[in-house]
Amino acid sequence: MPDEIDELHQQIEAETIESEEEAEAFRIQYLGRKQGAITNLFDRIGDLPPEERPEFGKRVNELKARAEERLEEAKARLKREEQAGGPDIDLTLPGRRDFRGSTHPLTQTLDEILRILHGLGFSTYEGPEIETDWHNFTALNFPPDHPARDMQDTFFLKEAPEDNSSSSDEPRVLRTHTSPGQIRIMENHEPPIRVAVPGRVYRNEAISYKSFCLFHQVELLYVDEGVTMAQLKQVLYSLARALFGEDVTLRFRPSYFPFTEPSAEVDVWWEDEDDEDGGQWMEILGCGMVHPNVFESVDVDPERYTGYAVGMGVERMAMLRHGIDDIRIFYENDVRFLDQF
Ligand code: DAH
Repeated sequence: MPDEIDELHQQIEAETIESEEEAEAFRIQYLGRKQGAITNLFDRIGDLPPEERPEFGKRVNELKARAEERLEEAKARLKREEQAGGPDIDLTLPGRRDFRGSTHPLTQTLDEILRILHGLGFSTYEGPEIETDWHNFTALNFPPDHPARDMQDTFFLKEAPEDNSSSSDEPRVLRTHTSPGQIRIMENHEPPIRVAVPGRVYRNEAISYKSFCLFHQVELLYVDEGVTMAQLKQVLYSLARALFGEDVTLRFRPSYFPFTEPSAEVDVWWEDEDDEDGGQWMEILGCGMVHPNVFESVDVDPERYTGYAVGMGVERMAMLRHGIDDIRIFYENDVRFLDQF
């Protein structure tokens, strides 16, 4: 018997009352004077042993009060809706906006660079961000304790991660450039090789508008018989024209990197009406012909093969394309900035 009261309670709570007709049906079903479910319970009180009657009566009364309450609520609501000329909603509330994500400006620039490079015959390879000291420096012709290592402020790791592909105990670093990608590719592939290596790199540098502790590079490596510096210039012009426009002007400056010989840095002429010279040279990449010592460290025959290598900064490219003057803004996730792309 008590179970029946509980069941009716649940049933009443679950009822939906969406019209006058449904309200009337609810009233008849539960509270109707002749066959209402609650009314019937009252009629059965007399059949119970006298000591159970008070408790039973109390519970049925509560049930009835709840049914009446639900009915009154529903009627009041239906009346309000009728007066408002529709369902009970506040039409003055602002709509719910959909927030649409967009591709980060760095990703856009990186995608664009890779798209152009694929058109020029480069495939893509990604190496690990945690590198061995050997891949990041030694194999790239940075001798141990050579001052050239100071060119790059390195984050060293205390312990080698277990899942790193090389299994020695030698020191690990967060790669300071994508150039170790050259080594990883040549370790595993015979020339001809024509590959782009995009990725994050890390440097322990003072953070400012022009340097951040992490940034992105794209490395290019082309190795085959008879690769020349002229081909390197050709591919860089093709890339720069596609990225910055047909009439872009580049300047090749002699430079030094341990892993290339000869080496160059490339600047792009950036017009700026406010500048007294009408613009300025902006450095966009380093490049050169692969040093024979690098080939030897990965058992590629430097008598037979030549190659060129390039390393470019993606942030720098994105800043030039979009007129951004502070690198840190790429990493702040400020929606007011990101929304513009
Ligand atoms: N790895 C150099 C850096 O991050 C950039 C670079 C220079 C890459 C010359 C190259 C290259 O492949 O040939 O400073």
